[in-house]
Amino acid sequence: MLKIAIVGTGNIANAHMEGWKELKDAKVIAACDVDLERAKKFAEQNSIPEAASDALELFKRKEIDAVDICTPNLQHYTLSLAAMKAGKHVLCEKPLAMNPAHIQEMIAASKKHKVKLTGISNQRFCAEAQAIKRFIDSGAAGKIYYAEARWLRRRHLPGWNSGFLLKKLGGGPCLDIGVHALDVAMFFMGNPRPVSVSGISGNFIAKKGALNLWGHYDKKIMDVEDFAGGFVRFDNGAALSLSCSFMANIKEKEENTIRLFGDKAGINYPSAEYFTEKAGSLIDGKMTHLKAQAGHSVEISKFADFITGKSKINPLPPEQSLNAIMVLDGIHRSQRSGREIRF
Ligand SMILES: NC(=O)c1ccc[n+]([C@@H]2O[C@H](COP(=O)([O-])OP(=O)(O)OC[C@H]3O[C@@H](n4cnc5c(N)ncnc54)[C@H](O)[C@@H]3O)[C@@H](O)[C@H]2O)c1
Repeated sequence: MLKIAIVGTGNIANAHMEGWKELKDAKVIAACDVDLERAKKFAEQNSIPEAASDALELFKRKEIDAVDICTPNLQHYTLSLAAMKAGKHVLCEKPLAMNPAHIQEMIAASKKHKVKLTGISNQRFCAEAQAIKRFIDSGAAGKIYYAEARWLRRRHLPGWNSGFLLKKLGGGPCLDIGVHALDVAMFFMGNPRPVSVSGISGNFIAKKGALNLWGHYDKKIMDVEDFAGGFVRFDNGAALSLSCSFMANIKEKEENTIRLFGDKAGINYPSAEYFTEKAGSLIDGKMTHLKAQAGHSVEISKFADFITGKSKINPLPPEQSLNAIMVLDGIHRSQRSGREIRF
């Protein structure tokens, strides 16, 4: 029986818990949160035998095999390192860390301490993304030479959580939602290595004190971007454009889409439509009858198989998270320098 500790028992921990509950050979034995009352409530609701408030103390416990980190972004690096140092496998929410140097250190630690490290990319494991990936891997789309990835929100800035509005705590839309769009697009493209990025990022609207549909925010403290856009080139000759926002003057309330340009077919995510030609006609098709699946649960099951040795496949290798964070960090560096950044 795999024994798990969940660290950070806020919002997203519930999706993780659903995943762990589905597994017969794994059990969450401790719930930890700096807010002990929150940990206790979560433990009680999910029949977890122990609630704790000090993660570092918990990591000393021999019976814990793996730690599932669901804390805010800033703690991902320090808690993952501490858990790995204590010999625990680590599953960690996105973004795996807030900068490339930290992820490199985390990868080195997983090798040094001979434990496994996996980031979260729940969107890769939803039914539509999996169907699209199978379509691409079958060769039906040909070579994907370009992708347009967007996660744009018109006026949804997480005003209730200042962590998202401060660089030192959480980062803006790049680290919060851009990371999802970029990760899934690169997954569809076969995880090519980024070689350069040119981008812009900035606080264009929010600093003025704009209408926000997600509650009041303090425009004076916000030091992260409200929009970022970038153009990425990969080592296989393909390229990608990314745009993400908490606030932007666009028609849609929200747009979370990827368009893939393949030389045999184009594909739209998440609608799972494809566009091609056959026998002298243009054909529009759609992948249908997909069985809905919770991305977190699928990934958690794959993580469990990976750490127990049932599978050799890491559902999200940290090297792929490193590529994504390198690009997002590169967009900010490109904004500061006014030039393309080469990796
Ligand atoms: N994959 C997704 O779709 C998705 C969706 C939402 C959030 N997230 C990610 O999940 C993480 C958490 O987000 P959330 O919305 O659940 O936040 P949250 O604020 O609801 O929960 C975070 C919890 O972590 C606790 N915490 C903070 N520092 C801690 C520490 N050192 N030790 C133990 N507990 C600590 C807080 O007290 C809080 O209860 C973030 O990194 C976020 O980016 C991912």
